[in-house]
Amino acid sequence: MQLEIFEDHQGLSDAAASDIIELAKIKPSATLCLASGETPRLTCQLLVQKVKNENLDISRLTFIGLDEWVNIPPDNEGSCHYFFRNELFSPLGIPEKQIHLFDAMSDKLQDECRKMDAVIRNKGGIDLMIVGIGMNGHIGFNEPGVSFDNYSHVIDLDDTSLSVGQKYVKTKVSLQKGITLGLRHLLESKKVLLLANGKKKAEVIKKTLEDNLTNSFPASIMQKHAHGIVMIDEEAASLLNQHK
Ligand code: PGA
Repeated sequence: MQLEIFEDHQGLSDAAASDIIELAKIKPSATLCLASGETPRLTCQLLVQKVKNENLDISRLTFIGLDEWVNIPPDNEGSCHYFFRNELFSPLGIPEKQIHLFDAMSDKLQDECRKMDAVIRNKGGIDLMIVGIGMNGHIGFNEPGVSFDNYSHVIDLDDTSLSVGQKYVKTKVSLQKGITLGLRHLLESKKVLLLANGKKKAEVIKKTLEDNLTNSFPASIMQKHAHGIVMIDEEAASLLNQHK
């Protein structure tokens, strides 16, 4: 695992977007897994700009959504569907057949999980995965205590995810469960970028990098990934020993 520290959110988002562009050039049929949320929003926006500026054809890339809130409909602005449609798929005109998002409204969520696992397997794995980190150390909805051996699964959200989640879902809806790729997918991805910015992420970044590897803090799994890069800004790096 490597650590890269950037001056600000713009810097790390630009680097992450450039990584996607580079991959799309080397392997136009690559499989990309992206997280939604405040952290990767700027990466998505910069990616849209770069693709347009370079007139790059990315119609053969496969897009996988990292997770989704169970029972939150795709037209709810707090859903991951809504985020991806607005920030990425519509602006770039990504063909529907290239998009794979969990249907979290399905009454057969286990089937959704197996379907997603099959898509990833049939593609020969994920080439690049870009994730954020939650205030409880989760990646996607891999909540504290989750097994590192899981592929896609449905999980009860922990209290931190439930309360932080209200910031995305503006209307009153009941959040309880999430559907998510598993940490085994992360370990098997050819490359993973974990992005974090701002002072409020400094504590969780310190734990990710300096505490022991443990499933009670899922993001510590990054320590195990040979091609994992933690990309953070100066504020998120402010509590690291090497930075003091
Ligand atoms: P954020 O979410 O990017 O909106 O901070 C991170 C997460 O909970 O995974």
